[in-house]
Amino acid sequence: MAIVLTNPSQVIIRNSELVENKNVLVINYEDDQLPKTLLNTAAKVTGLALDYHHYLTMDSESEPNLSLYFGHCLPNDELFDSAIIYYPKAKALAAYLINLAGQHLKPGGQLLVVGENKGGVRSLVKQTPGYFDAPFKQDNARHCLLYISELIGQAPKITLSDWVSQYQLQTPLGEVTICNLVGVFSEKKLDEGTKLLLSNLPKMKGRVLDFGCGAGVIAAALLKAQPQLQLECVDINAMAIASCELTLKANDFVGLTYPSDGLAQTNGSFDGIISNPPFHDGLKSTTDISKNFVSDSVKKLKRGGVWHIVANRHLPYSDTIDTFFGQVNVTAENNRYKVYSNTFKS
Ligand SMILES: C[S@@+](CC[C@H](N)C(=O)[O-])C[C@H]1O[C@@H](n2cnc3c(N)ncnc32)[C@H](O)[C@@H]1O
Repeated sequence: MAIVLTNPSQVIIRNSELVENKNVLVINYEDDQLPKTLLNTAAKVTGLALDYHHYLTMDSESEPNLSLYFGHCLPNDELFDSAIIYYPKAKALAAYLINLAGQHLKPGGQLLVVGENKGGVRSLVKQTPGYFDAPFKQDNARHCLLYISELIGQAPKITLSDWVSQYQLQTPLGEVTICNLVGVFSEKKLDEGTKLLLSNLPKMKGRVLDFGCGAGVIAAALLKAQPQLQLECVDINAMAIASCELTLKANDFVGLTYPSDGLAQTNGSFDGIISNPPFHDGLKSTTDISKNFVSDSVKKLKRGGVWHIVANRHLPYSDTIDTFFGQVNVTAENNRYKVYSNTFKS
């Protein structure tokens, strides 16, 4: 089935003569086939996905001039004629991506930045660093803007520590160090939902999965209280995975961190799953997300395995939990959140 191009991708295609016969880097590409489609015009395309689902959507095997990566940076120092950035939701992340593009452009290389009008892409004008010339509005269509600019100076080499805020966090399980990279959930403070979950957490044992680990707040707090746990941390977002790795390292904790889209890339079964799960995902409804998370969780839990999550009290978790666990056990709640703690029995 043909995958429809997103609005920003359609705007890139409308302007594809800009990348004719060029070696192009596409940063933060979306849930479509734009990097592959661009090969109709460009000589060579490299895609860097920050979202693991987007990375999994496309395969590059049949395309010798297409290279795809998932991560917060490229694994090499290749220089490109042109870099395209999909403007991200978080403005601070945009600054990082602009630096990354600058680092991978040849002198005089072309920067294209595309984004939905309502997604804040206009901020680019004030955000553009001095090593690029002032961005010019190249196109305005499909509720999106496309800006063009040129590399006129030397972009600094990215050092991850320049993009991280490191701080001490008091959690109900003890004080930990958190390393939060730009754009990662809940910068600088303990999320209220996460706090309620950690305040009402029984001891866990064995192999535990932290689903949607973000900067690793739950992981670090758990390991502070129970360093012997075999903890695995997954997230769909490359910046979150890098943050969680930095957080574990900063606390001298041992845990495995890897990308997963939902629970799909986890292996084997767990004695426990803990999460402050995602509540929205582009077009997917919150009902689908919670349903998939609960039904996938029971497949991944050992018999007697425990499942501790916190969710906004308005999210439709109860019926699904009842269906798949045969019980709904709310162990704590306040006017915004509920903590569900269930055991997988069959
Ligand atoms: C509400 S945040 C919780 C972050 C962290 N656990 C905390 O409590 O601070 C949810 C996390 O789920 C991640 N996420 C969203 N969709 C996902 C998916 N399909 N698979 C895995 N992780 C996902 C997001 O990137 C985000 O880091």
